[in-house]
Amino acid sequence: MDSCKDHQQERESKCLRVNGPIIVGAGPSGLAAAACLTQQGVPSLVLERSDCVASLWQHRTYDRLKLHLPKKFCQLPLLGFPEDFPEYPTKQQFISYMESYAAHFSIRPRFNQAVQTAEFDSGSGFWRVKTQDSEYISWWLIVATGENAEPVKSDVPGIAKFHGPVVHTSAYKSGSEFKNQKVLVVGCGNSGMEVSLDLCRHNAIPHMVVRNTVHVLPREMFGFSTFGIAMALLGWFSLRLVDKFLLLMANLTLGNTDHLGLRRPKTGPIELKNVTGKTPVLDVGALSQIKSGKIKVMKGVKEITRNGAKFMDGQEKRFDSIILATGYKSNVPTWLKGCDFFTEDGMPKTPFPNGWKVENGLYTVGFTRRGLLGTASDAVKIARDVAEQWRTIKNSKTS
Ligand SMILES: Cc1cc2nc3c(=O)[nH]c(=O)nc-3n(C[C@H](O)[C@H](O)[C@H](O)COP(=O)(O)OP(=O)(O)OC[C@H]3O[C@@H](n4cnc5c(N)ncnc54)[C@H](O)[C@@H]3O)c2cc1C
Ligand SMILES: NC(=O)c1ccc[n+]([C@@H]2O[C@H](COP(=O)([O-])OP(=O)(O)OC[C@H]3O[C@@H](n4cnc5c(N)ncnc54)[C@H](OP(=O)(O)O)[C@@H]3O)[C@@H](O)[C@H]2O)c1
Repeated sequence: MDSCKDHQQERESKCLRVNGPIIVGAGPSGLAAAACLTQQGVPSLVLERSDCVASLWQHRTYDRLKLHLPKKFCQLPLLGFPEDFPEYPTKQQFISYMESYAAHFSIRPRFNQAVQTAEFDSGSGFWRVKTQDSEYISWWLIVATGENAEPVKSDVPGIAKFHGPVVHTSAYKSGSEFKNQKVLVVGCGNSGMEVSLDLCRHNAIPHMVVRNTVHVLPREMFGFSTFGIAMALLGWFSLRLVDKFLLLMANLTLGNTDHLGLRRPKTGPIELKNVTGKTPVLDVGALSQIKSGKIKVMKGVKEITRNGAKFMDGQEKRFDSIILATGYKSNVPTWLKGCDFFTEDGMPKTPFPNGWKVENGLYTVGFTRRGLLGTASDAVKIARDVAEQWRTIKNSKTS
C-alpha cells in the first residue's frame, strides 16, 4: 500500500488509492451505482474499458433498436427519462438519457481502462484492481460489467469454411449492408428476430435458425405492455398462473406459433426466465414476416459449408452472409480473481434479490436477469450499504 499515492501524485505513480468504491463498468449499472453513492455523499471511481458511457448501446447495438419495455421499467434511480420521450425510447434516446444521467450526477468515468485483474488482498483488506497501465486500490469493489459483456460466437460446425462475411449481432448495424442477399441468421432470441425483421425491411432474404423451443409474446396486450401486465399480475397471483394467462393471451393474439416452427417450451415464459435466464421474445413485427414467408424458419444447422449450410432436416441452401445472433455472456471470471461467488458463466451463485452483496466489500450490480429494473434495485441497496460503512469510517477518524 505504501507505494500507492493519493489523487494529486497519481500521475507519477500509476497507482491510485481510491476514495470510495471502485466501480468496474460505465454502463447503466455502473452509472446507477455511482449516482446512488453520490446521493449518499460517497465518492467513487468508475473504470470503463471503452471510450464512452453505455458502450454496449453506443458501439454494439443495431440502428433500429428500441427498448422493448416501457420507459418506466427501464429508468435508473433518482432521474427518470425526459417526459417527452416516447413510451418505448429509441437507442439514440436511451444513449442521450445515459449521457445526461452521467452529467447530472457529475460522473466522470476513466475511459480506456480495461480491468484485467481484481483481487482482494486479505493482508491489507483492500481490493487491488489492475488495468493495462494502472493499479487502483479501494476498500470496496462494485462489479458492473454486465450480463452481456462479450458476444457468444457459438461453435457452429464448419463455420470456418464459409467464404462470405460472418458477423455477430454486436457488430451488425443495419440491413442496408445486406440488400438483396440471402442471409443465414443463427439464433432466434430478441436479437435474431429483430435483425431478421431489419433484413426484410432492406430487401434481404433472412433464413433464421431455430434449433430449440422459444416463447414469443406480443409486446403489448389490450394496448398495455405485456411486461407491465405480468408485473402487475405477479403482485396478486402465483407465477405459474400468470404464465398460463400470458400464454393464453399470446395464443389468442399471435396464434399457434408451433405451426411456424417456433415451438413453445413446456415451462412458462417467466418461470423459464427466472430458472434459466432465457428471455422470451417480445414480438415487434418479425412474426408477421414469418407468417408471410419473408423470414424463413430453419431447423438447426448440421454444418456450414463453403457456400451455405446443411440443415438438420436434410435441406441444403446457399447463403451470401451469416449473422450470429447467438447471444452474449458475462466476462467476470476472466478478471475477478480468488472469488467463488460467481459461476463459470460469470453470474452470481446467489440469485436475485440477494446477489448484490458478496463479502469483503465486494458488490454486484446488474446481474439479476431482470434488465434495468434489477439494476435499479441493486444500485439503491449497494449505495445504502456502502454509505453506512463510509460514515462509520469517517466518524471513527473524527472522534
Ligand atoms: C441488443 C440489446 C438490447 C437490450 N435491450 C434492453 C431493454 O430494452 N431493456 C432492458 O432492461 N435491458 C435490455 N438489454 C439488456 C442490457 O444488457 C441492459 O439493458 C443494460 O445494458 C445492462 O447494463 P449494465 O451496465 O449492467 O451492462 P452493460 O450495458 O453491458 O455495461 C457494462 C460496461 O462494462 C464495461 N466493461 C466490461 N468489462 C470490462 C472490464 N474488464 N473493464 C472495464 N470495463 C468493462 C463495458 O464496456 C460496458 O460499458 C439489452 C441488451 C442487448 C444486447
Ligand atoms: N429491443 C430489445 O429490447 C432487445 C433486442 C435484442 C436483444 N435484447 C436483449 O438482449 C439480451 C440478449 O439477446 P440475444 O437475442 O442477443 O441473445 P439470447 O437471448 O441469448 O439468444 C441467443 C439465441 O441464439 C441461439 N443459439 C446459440 N447458439 C446457437 C447455435 N450454435 N445454433 C443455433 N442457435 C444458437 C439460442 O438458442 P438456444 O435457446 O437453443 O440456446 C438463442 O435462440 C436479451 O436479454 C434480450 O432480451 C433486447
